[in-house]
Amino acid sequence: MKRYLDFNATCPPLPEVIEAVSRASASAIGNPSSLHWAGRAARRIVDDARDRLAAHLHCESGSVVFTSGGTESDNIAIHATTAAHPGGGTIITTAIEHPAVLRPLEQLQSPQWQLQQIKPNASGVIDTQAMIEAIDAADDLRLVCIMLVNNESGAIQPAAEIARHCRTRHIPILIDAVQALGKIAIDATQLDADFIALSAHKIGGPKGVGALIVRRGVKIAQLAPGGGQERGRRSGTENVPGIAGFAAALGIIDFNDYRPIRDHFESRLCASIPESSIIAADAPRSANTSLFTLPGVDGETILMQLDLAGFAVASGSACSSGKREPSHVLRAMGVNDTLARSAIRVSFGPGNSTADADALIEALLQSRNRLKQMAGF
Ligand SMILES: Cc1ncc(COP(=O)(O)O)c(C=O)c1O
Repeated sequence: MKRYLDFNATCPPLPEVIEAVSRASASAIGNPSSLHWAGRAARRIVDDARDRLAAHLHCESGSVVFTSGGTESDNIAIHATTAAHPGGGTIITTAIEHPAVLRPLEQLQSPQWQLQQIKPNASGVIDTQAMIEAIDAADDLRLVCIMLVNNESGAIQPAAEIARHCRTRHIPILIDAVQALGKIAIDATQLDADFIALSAHKIGGPKGVGALIVRRGVKIAQLAPGGGQERGRRSGTENVPGIAGFAAALGIIDFNDYRPIRDHFESRLCASIPESSIIAADAPRSANTSLFTLPGVDGETILMQLDLAGFAVASGSACSSGKREPSHVLRAMGVNDTLARSAIRVSFGPGNSTADADALIEALLQSRNRLKQMAGF
């Protein structure tokens, strides 16, 4: 039996989304930039989706720029802001960002561009005061980047407080809200960030489509200049079916519904494997996520055994799996490399039940015992 328990990596497309994508693929035959009837029909689909996303996030439709996903949204915000400062400066971010933020920032690093990464506390949460102090101490600060919900631990970050401080200091801020959509309420007007990055596939929308919410008045240089779509902010013919699917996914899944399953799983895990430890257990966390360590075993090996038994779970960050480096998030939290290598992430979503959680506990126990026997325990 196959059990999918990796919703933070991606949420399988919802039936409503598949229907919307296929309807838009069949009906929107024109290019949304064309002035004729076929173009206008495609344009209507894009504009309607833009209005729905704006209403969902409580922002203006004009703030929504459709992109190919979270990675592109983060990159546009970073490059657009830094391109306006040829003389360089300082960027402050956190040590627990997704690679979609960390990699472009690391690439920028040069004698002109300094990067400061604020570490989280042992529970995986960035200390608001520490970040504000770093912001106040930097005199040539060009950009602040912080995520709203961490993809590995689920820990909710003080992005709203940091954004409020940045506004008073007139410092641009990017909030990566890719893992927050469907998990915590997002009010773009209240957040008032210069940029908010989003991705459709985390909420059951299509893969390869997302959005960047750009605060009114913020100018952005195009990463890939071209036909000037999205009001000159992101060139390229819009992914009309993908955008329709993104809009169709909005508001359907509430990952808070999976808190009882996650909590049931964690209490059984701690009872059956007492040496296991739940990461970020005492932090405010997204309700569907459980990241834990199993001392003495290798997370990747457990993951492969679970895969053979039909379970789809992740070890550390799914986006960087395949790489044998321990999770940078766990490292930043002060977890040692050996323990970090034992980490497994389970993220629940539609279709899951407590029976899946129970079956996973049994499979974990079997894998762990097998590995311990092999290691001569
Ligand atoms: C916090 C965060 N930011 C950015 C991304 C990248 O989004 P996408 O897969 O749409 O490029 C992810 C994907 O896992 C993520 O979790």
